Amino acid sequence: TDIQPTGGTDVPAEDTGIDIHTTAGKLADLKRRVGEVAHAGSERAVEKQHARGKKTARERLAMLLDEGSFVEMDKYARHRSVAFGQDANRPYGDGVVTGYGTVDGRTVAVFAQDFTVFGGSLGEVFGEKITKVMDFAMKVGCPVVGLNDSGGARIQEGVVSLGLYGEIFRRNVHASGVIPQISLIMGPCAGGAVYSPAVTDFTVMVDQTSHMFITGPEVIKTVTGEDVSFEELGGARTHNSKSGVAHYMGTDEEDAVEYVKALLSYLPSNNLEQPPVFGDEELDLDVTDDDRALDTIIPDSPNQPYDMHRVIEAVMDDGEFLEVAPLFAPNILCGFGRVEGRSVGVVANQPMQFAGTLDIDASEKAARFVRTCDAFNVPILTFVDVPGFLPGADQEWDGIIRRGAKLIYAYAEATVPLVTVITRKAYGGAYDVMGSKHLGADINLAWPTAQIAVMGAQGAVNILYRKQLAAAAERGEDVDATRQRFITEYEDTLANPYVAAERGYIDTVITPSNTRMNVTKALRALRTKRETLPPKKHGNIPL
Ligand code: HXC
Repeated sequence: TDIQPTGGTDVPAEDTGIDIHTTAGKLADLKRRVGEVAHAGSERAVEKQHARGKKTARERLAMLLDEGSFVEMDKYARHRSVAFGQDANRPYGDGVVTGYGTVDGRTVAVFAQDFTVFGGSLGEVFGEKITKVMDFAMKVGCPVVGLNDSGGARIQEGVVSLGLYGEIFRRNVHASGVIPQISLIMGPCAGGAVYSPAVTDFTVMVDQTSHMFITGPEVIKTVTGEDVSFEELGGARTHNSKSGVAHYMGTDEEDAVEYVKALLSYLPSNNLEQPPVFGDEELDLDVTDDDRALDTIIPDSPNQPYDMHRVIEAVMDDGEFLEVAPLFAPNILCGFGRVEGRSVGVVANQPMQFAGTLDIDASEKAARFVRTCDAFNVPILTFVDVPGFLPGADQEWDGIIRRGAKLIYAYAEATVPLVTVITRKAYGGAYDVMGSKHLGADINLAWPTAQIAVMGAQGAVNILYRKQLAAAAERGEDVDATRQRFITEYEDTLANPYVAAERGYIDTVITPSNTRMNVTKALRALRTKRETLPPKKHGNIPL
């Protein structure tokens, strides 16, 4: 039967030496149970976990949460399944540690799957514990951080496990945009189990020890004949650089946890709150040496790259920029920083990678980031140096039209403060996409080096003056000199910020060293921005 002689534990009353019929005995019995809770996994399993460079669920929570802040929920919960047999092991906690605690003093709900118990596999009680802590987080409006390390659906519990996964997915979706949800992957996460992290706002993996895939190497070998290792198929590097599933690759578990804590520091506890403010005094806006360095950062040649990180760092408090998905689509930079102690999300083209062009991956990376910021009241600062969309048949066939549209959608839908700075190129459709006034940006600034035009001078001249250039060639004239003359003329008349500024598409043209001052003032003014979209059930973002 399910009822054990000791009233819940597997240890027979006579073996404990405790008389549970006295108050002192009841207290001693509780203490014994607390001890059992803490040692749910066998010593052998814990050793195996450590030998792999992995920590236990409790050790991980100790790293994440402020010391002494953890309050455990459902520690006495255990499975009621008969599929394990009559004398089955029924460890307390059922393989997942759940509860709440604080990170930097702010409440966070957590669940940590414990691989040392049933391989962290998810059964009915395990799943109920997770859904309960998610419901708790929604009620109080606090983030949920999930630590995943699991063999997946608990095979003995069959469809009930699948049902609980579904319950978790639904909660993930309903919580999306209400409370921040962050997934740490610290071991296996396979099959449909990957879809809970996939729905959450951020997925953080650990190099070498975490893996995510829908079907594993063996199934792939059987079905398609492909030979692929665990690491190559679904390791942290793969998902950070190739698939874009993960947003950060921790060098080890501690590094991954530190990243999650840093992320939380930029986010509010829920969508009705503002992100935390660090220090409340107004910044000194006098031009510094770091500001001045921006006056010489743009090379004279439009084809020469420069590192956009330097521009971002010059504007952020203490030069601190926490990048999101730094290894994926490096032609666009996304991440968090602070201006006057207040969170900002930064989106920036990176001229050092593919000349800063927008491709499918960059569009999707930035679109997700913009929506994350918008959902959580984080203003968006955009730096633009974009020569256009990446040309290529692959890009077209893979759907750059529908997938690039996501970035337009995300910007146009965003109601948080939007400040945009054009440093150099803003060509063609990409000009519109990258936080233009036309999509709803509030303050648009440009450096005098900005070239806001339908295309670059070279391309424009070849199209506009094709006949004249051919005629010059026929006449035996110096075609290059003629072309150069047209290019200079084009640059002087069209490839500058003043045509846009004349129409108010650009609010003002600023000296680069004044960027921090202008951005700070814009964000100050926009703190009280209120904008609402037409009421609707939900939009229909192209997916
Ligand atoms: C029950 C499981 C389990 C599972 C592992 N265990 N996975 N028990 N259900 N899904 C148990 C093992 O029996 C073992 O118990 C202990 O956990 C540790 O597992 P090991 O195999 O010894 O560990 P390791 O060698 O590290 O291998 C880890 C592993 C492997 C790669 C995850 O265990 C594995 O392949 N498990 C099965 C994975 C799987 O197919 N899951 C179902 C997929 S479907 P003892 O008692 O020996 O210590 C799915 C989809 C969910 O998950 C869909 C939701 C929609």
